[in-house]
Amino acid sequence: MNLSRLALSLGQSATLKLNELANNLKAEGKPVVHLGGGEPEEKIPAGAAEAGRRLLDGGFVRYTATAGTAPLKKEIAAYTERHYGVKPGLNNIVVASGAKQAIYNFLVSVIDPGDQVVFPAPYWVSYPEMVRLAYGTPVVARPKAGQLLVSAADIEACITSSTKAVLLNSPNNPSGQIYPQQFIREMVEICEHRNVYLLMDDIYNQLVFDGLKAPSAFEFSRRPLNESVIVSINGVSKTFSMTGFRIGWSVANEAITQAMVKVQAQVSSCPSALSQAAAAGALAAGGDFVGTLRAGLEKKRDLMVAELSKLKKVKLHKPQGTFYSFPDFSAYEPASAKLSGLLLEKAMVVTVPGVEFGLEGHLRLSYCGAEKDIIEGVARIRKVLD
Ligand SMILES: Cc1ncc(COP(=O)(O)O)c(C=O)c1O
Repeated sequence: MNLSRLALSLGQSATLKLNELANNLKAEGKPVVHLGGGEPEEKIPAGAAEAGRRLLDGGFVRYTATAGTAPLKKEIAAYTERHYGVKPGLNNIVVASGAKQAIYNFLVSVIDPGDQVVFPAPYWVSYPEMVRLAYGTPVVARPKAGQLLVSAADIEACITSSTKAVLLNSPNNPSGQIYPQQFIREMVEICEHRNVYLLMDDIYNQLVFDGLKAPSAFEFSRRPLNESVIVSINGVSKTFSMTGFRIGWSVANEAITQAMVKVQAQVSSCPSALSQAAAAGALAAGGDFVGTLRAGLEKKRDLMVAELSKLKKVKLHKPQGTFYSFPDFSAYEPASAKLSGLLLEKAMVVTVPGVEFGLEGHLRLSYCGAEKDIIEGVARIRKVLD
Protein backbone atom coordinates (compact mmCIF):
# COMPACT_ATOMS: atom_id res chain seq x y z
CA MET A 1 0.00 0.00 0.00
CA ASN A 2 1.28 3.45 -0.90
CA LEU A 3 1.08 5.86 2.01
CA SER A 4 2.38 9.43 2.02
CA ARG A 5 5.63 10.23 3.77
CA LEU A 6 3.56 12.51 6.01
CA ALA A 7 1.14 9.73 7.02
CA LEU A 8 4.01 7.32 7.62
CA SER A 9 5.85 9.85 9.79
CA LEU A 10 2.92 10.67 12.10
CA GLY A 11 2.83 9.19 15.59
CA GLN A 12 -0.39 7.93 17.15
CA SER A 13 -1.98 10.06 19.88
CA ALA A 14 -0.60 8.42 23.04
CA THR A 15 -3.50 9.54 25.19
CA LEU A 16 -6.21 8.39 22.79
CA LYS A 17 -4.41 5.05 22.43
CA LEU A 18 -4.35 4.62 26.21
CA ASN A 19 -8.04 5.51 26.48
CA GLU A 20 -8.79 2.77 23.99
CA LEU A 21 -6.59 0.32 25.88
CA ALA A 22 -8.28 1.14 29.21
CA ASN A 23 -11.74 0.71 27.66
CA ASN A 24 -10.77 -2.61 26.07
CA LEU A 25 -9.37 -3.95 29.35
CA LYS A 26 -12.52 -2.85 31.18
CA ALA A 27 -14.69 -4.54 28.54
CA GLU A 28 -12.72 -7.74 29.17
CA GLY A 29 -13.70 -7.46 32.83
CA LYS A 30 -10.22 -6.49 34.06
CA PRO A 31 -10.16 -4.34 37.23
CA VAL A 32 -8.53 -1.35 35.55
CA VAL A 33 -8.16 2.03 37.25
CA HIS A 34 -7.92 4.69 34.56
CA LEU A 35 -5.77 7.63 35.65
CA GLY A 36 -4.99 8.54 32.05
CA GLY A 37 -8.24 10.30 31.14
CA GLY A 38 -8.75 13.79 29.82
CA GLU A 39 -12.40 14.68 30.39
CA PRO A 40 -14.53 15.64 33.38
CA GLU A 41 -17.06 13.05 34.51
CA GLU A 42 -19.85 15.61 35.10
CA LYS A 43 -23.04 15.70 33.05
CA ILE A 44 -23.34 18.50 30.46
CA PRO A 45 -25.04 21.78 31.49
CA ALA A 46 -28.85 21.65 31.37
CA GLY A 47 -28.82 24.67 29.05
CA ALA A 48 -26.76 22.73 26.50
CA ALA A 49 -29.15 19.77 26.48
CA GLU A 50 -32.21 22.03 26.19
CA ALA A 51 -30.77 24.04 23.29
CA GLY A 52 -29.74 20.86 21.45
CA ARG A 53 -33.17 19.31 22.01
CA ARG A 54 -34.91 22.44 20.71
CA LEU A 55 -32.98 22.29 17.44
CA LEU A 56 -33.71 18.57 17.03
CA ASP A 57 -37.42 19.07 17.76
CA GLY A 58 -37.55 21.69 14.98
CA GLY A 59 -36.51 18.92 12.59
CA PHE A 60 -33.98 20.93 10.55
CA VAL A 61 -30.29 20.36 11.17
CA ARG A 62 -28.44 21.97 8.26
CA TYR A 63 -25.00 23.22 7.33
CA THR A 64 -24.21 26.51 9.05
CA ALA A 65 -21.90 29.34 8.03
CA THR A 66 -18.34 27.96 7.88
CA ALA A 67 -17.13 30.15 10.77
CA GLY A 68 -20.11 29.18 12.95
CA THR A 69 -23.60 30.43 13.73
CA ALA A 70 -24.16 34.06 14.75
CA PRO A 71 -25.87 33.13 18.06
CA LEU A 72 -22.88 31.01 19.13
CA LYS A 73 -20.34 33.60 17.98
CA LYS A 74 -22.23 36.27 19.98
CA GLU A 75 -21.99 34.06 23.08
CA ILE A 76 -18.28 33.50 22.42
CA ALA A 77 -17.71 37.26 22.04
CA ALA A 78 -19.44 37.90 25.38
CA TYR A 79 -17.49 35.03 27.05
CA THR A 80 -14.21 36.41 25.71
CA GLU A 81 -15.03 39.89 27.00
CA ARG A 82 -15.96 38.50 30.42
CA HIS A 83 -12.81 36.44 30.85
CA TYR A 84 -10.19 38.23 28.76
CA GLY A 85 -11.27 41.87 28.80
CA VAL A 86 -11.25 41.95 24.98
CA LYS A 87 -14.44 42.15 22.95
CA PRO A 88 -13.96 40.46 19.59
CA GLY A 89 -16.19 41.23 16.63
CA LEU A 90 -17.92 38.28 15.00
CA ASN A 91 -15.31 38.49 12.21
CA ASN A 92 -12.60 37.68 14.74
CA ILE A 93 -14.08 34.29 15.64
CA VAL A 94 -14.03 30.88 13.96
CA VAL A 95 -15.98 28.08 15.59
CA ALA A 96 -14.31 24.74 14.85
CA SER A 97 -14.89 21.04 15.55
CA GLY A 98 -12.98 21.18 18.83
CA ALA A 99 -10.07 23.31 20.02
CA LYS A 100 -7.91 20.78 18.21
CA GLN A 101 -9.31 21.74 14.82
CA ALA A 102 -8.99 25.44 15.72
CA ILE A 103 -5.27 24.89 16.39
CA TYR A 104 -4.93 22.94 13.15
CA ASN A 105 -6.71 25.69 11.17
CA PHE A 106 -4.23 28.17 12.59
CA LEU A 107 -1.13 26.08 11.89
CA VAL A 108 -2.13 25.39 8.30
CA SER A 109 -2.87 29.08 7.81
CA VAL A 110 0.56 30.36 8.88
CA ILE A 111 3.12 27.62 8.22
CA ASP A 112 5.07 27.22 5.00
CA PRO A 113 7.08 23.98 4.69
CA GLY A 114 9.97 24.07 7.16
CA ASP A 115 8.68 27.01 9.23
CA GLN A 116 9.13 26.58 12.95
CA VAL A 117 6.68 26.66 15.85
CA VAL A 118 8.23 27.00 19.30
CA PHE A 119 6.62 25.59 22.44
CA PRO A 120 7.84 24.61 25.89
CA ALA A 121 8.04 21.12 27.37
CA PRO A 122 6.10 19.60 28.93
CA TYR A 123 3.64 20.06 26.06
CA TRP A 124 0.30 18.60 25.05
CA VAL A 125 1.01 15.36 23.17
CA SER A 126 -0.60 16.57 19.94
CA TYR A 127 1.44 19.74 19.35
CA PRO A 128 4.50 18.20 17.65
CA GLU A 129 2.43 16.01 15.33
CA MET A 130 0.00 18.81 14.50
CA VAL A 131 2.89 21.10 13.52
CA ARG A 132 4.31 18.30 11.35
CA LEU A 133 0.89 17.74 9.80
CA ALA A 134 1.12 21.35 8.57
CA TYR A 135 4.64 20.63 7.18
CA GLY A 136 6.21 22.71 9.95
CA THR A 137 9.05 21.94 12.33
CA PRO A 138 8.33 21.76 16.08
CA VAL A 139 11.00 23.39 18.26
CA VAL A 140 10.86 22.54 21.96
CA ALA A 141 12.16 24.81 24.75
CA ARG A 142 13.10 22.71 27.77
CA PRO A 143 12.88 23.72 31.43
CA LYS A 144 15.84 23.37 33.76
CA ALA A 145 16.19 20.05 35.61
CA GLY A 146 13.57 19.70 38.32
CA GLN A 147 11.43 22.56 36.90
CA LEU A 148 8.18 22.46 34.96
CA LEU A 149 8.19 26.02 33.60
CA VAL A 150 10.61 27.62 31.15
CA SER A 151 11.65 31.28 31.22
CA ALA A 152 10.85 33.79 28.47
CA ALA A 153 14.58 33.83 27.67
CA ASP A 154 14.46 30.03 27.10
CA ILE A 155 11.71 30.55 24.51
CA GLU A 156 13.37 33.58 22.93
CA ALA A 157 16.56 31.59 22.44
CA CYS A 158 14.57 29.20 20.19
CA ILE A 159 13.11 31.93 17.96
CA THR A 160 14.76 32.24 14.52
CA SER A 161 13.85 33.96 11.24
CA SER A 162 11.86 30.78 10.39
CA THR A 163 9.67 30.94 13.52
CA LYS A 164 6.03 31.60 12.70
CA ALA A 165 4.50 31.12 16.14
CA VAL A 166 5.08 30.48 19.81
CA LEU A 167 2.52 28.14 21.33
CA LEU A 168 1.65 28.25 25.04
CA ASN A 169 -0.87 26.30 27.08
CA SER A 170 -1.70 27.72 30.51
CA PRO A 171 -2.73 26.18 32.80
CA ASN A 172 -0.75 23.40 31.27
CA ASN A 173 -1.59 19.89 30.22
CA PRO A 174 0.19 17.85 31.65
CA SER A 175 1.81 19.82 34.50
CA GLY A 176 -1.23 21.72 35.83
CA GLN A 177 1.04 24.78 36.23
CA ILE A 178 -0.04 28.33 35.38
CA TYR A 179 2.51 30.48 33.56
CA PRO A 180 3.11 33.60 35.71
CA GLN A 181 2.07 37.13 34.71
CA GLN A 182 5.61 38.30 34.15
CA PHE A 183 6.30 35.40 31.77
CA ILE A 184 3.16 36.05 29.72
CA ARG A 185 3.95 39.80 29.63
CA GLU A 186 7.46 39.09 28.32
CA MET A 187 6.14 36.61 25.76
CA VAL A 188 3.72 39.21 24.40
CA GLU A 189 6.56 41.76 24.15
CA ILE A 190 8.91 39.27 22.45
CA CYS A 191 6.30 38.04 19.96
CA GLU A 192 5.19 41.57 19.08
CA HIS A 193 8.81 42.68 18.68
CA ARG A 194 9.79 39.65 16.55
CA ASN A 195 6.48 39.68 14.65
CA VAL A 196 5.71 36.09 15.58
CA TYR A 197 2.22 34.81 16.39
CA LEU A 198 1.52 33.97 20.04
CA LEU A 199 -0.93 31.07 20.02
CA MET A 200 -2.51 30.77 23.46
CA ASP A 201 -4.18 27.42 24.04
CA ASP A 202 -6.56 28.61 26.76
CA ILE A 203 -8.70 25.46 26.89
CA TYR A 204 -8.19 25.06 30.68
CA ASN A 205 -8.25 28.80 31.38
CA GLN A 206 -11.22 28.65 33.79
CA LEU A 207 -10.16 25.45 35.55
CA VAL A 208 -7.80 27.10 38.07
CA PHE A 209 -7.60 26.62 41.85
CA ASP A 210 -6.71 28.40 45.10
CA GLY A 211 -8.34 31.62 43.85
CA LEU A 212 -5.61 31.96 41.18
CA LYS A 213 -6.18 33.32 37.69
CA ALA A 214 -4.43 32.27 34.51
CA PRO A 215 -3.16 35.55 33.04
CA SER A 216 -4.49 36.30 29.56
CA ALA A 217 -1.99 37.44 26.92
CA PHE A 218 -4.46 40.14 25.80
CA GLU A 219 -3.94 41.93 29.15
CA PHE A 220 -0.39 42.81 28.14
CA SER A 221 -0.90 44.08 24.62
CA ARG A 222 -1.85 47.62 23.68
CA ARG A 223 -2.58 46.67 20.09
CA PRO A 224 -6.17 46.50 18.86
CA LEU A 225 -7.29 42.93 18.17
CA ASN A 226 -7.08 43.40 14.40
CA GLU A 227 -3.37 44.24 14.68
CA SER A 228 -2.62 41.67 17.35
CA VAL A 229 -0.24 38.71 17.05
CA ILE A 230 -2.22 36.95 19.80
CA VAL A 231 -4.51 34.09 18.83
CA SER A 232 -6.57 32.61 21.67
CA ILE A 233 -7.98 29.09 21.46
CA ASN A 234 -10.80 27.96 23.69
CA GLY A 235 -13.83 25.66 23.73
CA VAL A 236 -16.53 23.91 25.70
CA SER A 237 -14.86 20.47 25.92
CA LYS A 238 -13.23 20.79 29.32
CA THR A 239 -14.87 23.79 31.00
CA PHE A 240 -18.42 22.65 30.25
CA SER A 241 -17.75 18.91 30.26
CA MET A 242 -18.77 18.72 26.59
CA THR A 243 -15.87 16.78 25.02
CA GLY A 244 -18.15 14.73 22.76
CA PHE A 245 -19.74 17.78 21.17
CA ARG A 246 -16.46 18.77 19.49
CA ILE A 247 -16.82 22.53 19.71
CA GLY A 248 -13.83 24.86 20.07
CA TRP A 249 -12.98 28.28 18.64
CA SER A 250 -10.31 30.82 17.87
CA VAL A 251 -10.23 34.56 18.56
CA ALA A 252 -7.75 36.38 16.33
CA ASN A 253 -7.23 39.32 13.98
CA GLU A 254 -9.50 39.41 10.93
CA ALA A 255 -6.78 38.59 8.39
CA ILE A 256 -5.73 35.34 10.05
CA THR A 257 -9.38 34.58 10.84
CA GLN A 258 -10.29 34.79 7.15
CA ALA A 259 -7.46 32.41 6.26
CA MET A 260 -8.63 29.96 8.93
CA VAL A 261 -12.19 30.12 7.58
CA LYS A 262 -10.89 29.22 4.10
CA VAL A 263 -9.03 26.22 5.51
CA GLN A 264 -12.02 25.02 7.48
CA ALA A 265 -14.37 25.48 4.51
CA GLN A 266 -12.30 22.99 2.50
CA VAL A 267 -11.75 20.53 5.35
CA SER A 268 -15.06 20.23 7.18
CA SER A 269 -17.47 22.90 5.78
CA CYS A 270 -18.63 23.82 9.30
CA PRO A 271 -18.87 22.37 12.79
CA SER A 272 -21.98 20.34 13.61
CA ALA A 273 -25.08 22.56 13.80
CA LEU A 274 -26.44 20.50 16.68
CA SER A 275 -23.25 20.86 18.69
CA GLN A 276 -23.12 24.59 18.01
CA ALA A 277 -26.66 25.01 19.34
CA ALA A 278 -25.75 23.06 22.47
CA ALA A 279 -22.53 25.06 22.98
CA ALA A 280 -24.46 28.34 22.67
CA GLY A 281 -26.93 26.96 25.24
CA ALA A 282 -24.07 26.16 27.64
CA LEU A 283 -22.48 29.58 27.30
CA ALA A 284 -25.81 31.42 27.64
CA ALA A 285 -27.06 29.48 30.67
CA GLY A 286 -27.13 31.26 33.99
CA GLY A 287 -26.00 29.47 37.15
CA ASP A 288 -22.45 28.58 37.94
CA PHE A 289 -21.72 25.33 36.12
CA VAL A 290 -18.04 26.17 35.77
CA GLY A 291 -17.69 27.27 39.41
CA THR A 292 -19.15 23.98 40.62
CA LEU A 293 -16.92 21.97 38.26
CA ARG A 294 -13.87 23.96 39.39
CA ALA A 295 -14.64 23.42 43.09
CA GLY A 296 -15.10 19.67 42.57
CA LEU A 297 -11.81 19.43 40.66
CA GLU A 298 -9.97 21.43 43.32
CA LYS A 299 -11.14 18.92 45.93
CA LYS A 300 -9.94 16.04 43.75
CA ARG A 301 -6.63 17.85 43.16
CA ASP A 302 -6.16 18.02 46.94
CA LEU A 303 -6.98 14.33 47.23
CA MET A 304 -4.50 13.39 44.47
CA VAL A 305 -1.76 15.51 46.10
CA ALA A 306 -2.42 13.91 49.50
CA GLU A 307 -2.37 10.38 48.07
CA LEU A 308 0.79 11.00 46.01
CA SER A 309 2.58 12.44 49.06
CA LYS A 310 2.38 8.95 50.60
CA LEU A 311 4.79 7.62 47.96
CA LYS A 312 8.30 7.69 49.37
CA LYS A 313 10.26 8.93 46.35
CA VAL A 314 7.83 10.97 44.26
CA LYS A 315 8.45 14.69 43.66
CA LEU A 316 5.41 16.80 42.84
CA HIS A 317 4.80 20.42 41.88
CA LYS A 318 1.27 20.98 43.16
CA PRO A 319 -1.04 21.52 40.19
CA GLN A 320 -2.63 24.99 40.07
CA GLY A 321 -5.27 24.14 37.47
CA THR A 322 -6.54 21.60 34.86
CA PHE A 323 -7.22 18.07 36.11
CA TYR A 324 -3.75 16.61 35.71
CA SER A 325 -0.82 16.02 38.02
CA PHE A 326 2.67 15.40 36.68
CA PRO A 327 4.79 13.86 39.43
CA ASP A 328 8.44 12.99 38.94
CA PHE A 329 8.90 9.23 39.38
CA SER A 330 12.50 9.15 38.16
CA ALA A 331 13.81 8.02 41.56
CA TYR A 332 11.91 4.77 40.94
CA GLU A 333 12.47 4.44 37.18
CA PRO A 334 13.77 7.14 34.82
CA ALA A 335 12.19 5.59 31.67
CA SER A 336 8.56 6.70 31.92
CA ALA A 337 7.18 4.39 29.21
CA LYS A 338 8.73 1.40 30.98
CA LEU A 339 7.30 2.51 34.32
CA SER A 340 3.84 3.18 32.86
CA GLY A 341 3.88 -0.30 31.25
CA LEU A 342 4.94 -1.87 34.54
CA LEU A 343 2.13 -0.14 36.44
CA LEU A 344 -0.40 -1.32 33.90
CA GLU A 345 0.86 -4.88 34.08
CA LYS A 346 1.39 -5.16 37.84
CA ALA A 347 -1.24 -2.77 39.23
CA MET A 348 -3.78 -2.45 36.38
CA VAL A 349 -3.46 1.34 36.61
CA VAL A 350 -3.39 3.43 33.44
CA THR A 351 -0.99 6.41 33.50
CA VAL A 352 0.52 8.42 30.65
CA PRO A 353 4.34 8.38 30.32
CA GLY A 354 6.02 11.79 30.61
CA VAL A 355 8.11 11.11 27.51
CA GLU A 356 4.94 11.62 25.43
CA PHE A 357 4.83 15.19 26.77
CA GLY A 358 8.53 15.74 26.12
CA LEU A 359 9.66 15.31 29.74
CA GLU A 360 11.14 11.99 30.84
CA GLY A 361 10.93 10.61 34.36
CA HIS A 362 7.38 11.88 34.96
CA LEU A 363 3.96 10.25 34.69
CA ARG A 364 0.72 12.11 34.07
CA LEU A 365 -2.00 11.10 36.52
CA SER A 366 -5.46 12.60 35.95
CA TYR A 367 -7.87 13.44 38.72
CA CYS A 368 -10.95 14.11 36.60
CA GLY A 369 -12.42 10.70 37.48
CA ALA A 370 -14.03 9.29 40.62
CA GLU A 371 -12.43 9.95 44.04
CA LYS A 372 -12.38 6.24 44.75
CA ASP A 373 -10.28 5.68 41.62
CA ILE A 374 -7.75 8.29 42.73
CA ILE A 375 -7.40 6.58 46.13
CA GLU A 376 -7.35 3.04 44.74
CA GLY A 377 -5.09 3.88 41.78
CA VAL A 378 -2.38 5.58 43.84
CA ALA A 379 -2.61 2.88 46.56
CA ARG A 380 -1.95 0.20 43.92
CA ILE A 381 1.01 2.19 42.55
CA ARG A 382 2.44 2.41 46.09
CA LYS A 383 2.09 -1.29 46.55
CA VAL A 384 4.18 -1.92 43.44
CA LEU A 385 6.81 0.78 44.00
CA ASP A 386 7.34 1.25 47.77
C1 LIG B 1 -4.00 21.41 25.89
C2 LIG B 1 -5.15 20.95 25.08
N1 LIG B 1 -5.52 21.65 24.00
C3 LIG B 1 -6.55 21.26 23.23
C4 LIG B 1 -7.27 20.13 23.53
C5 LIG B 1 -8.37 19.71 22.60
O1 LIG B 1 -9.62 20.13 22.98
P1 LIG B 1 -10.90 19.75 22.11
O2 LIG B 1 -11.51 18.55 22.74
O3 LIG B 1 -11.79 20.96 22.21
O4 LIG B 1 -10.46 19.50 20.71
C6 LIG B 1 -6.92 19.36 24.63
C7 LIG B 1 -7.64 18.10 24.94
O5 LIG B 1 -7.15 17.22 25.63
C8 LIG B 1 -5.84 19.79 25.44
O6 LIG B 1 -5.47 19.09 26.54
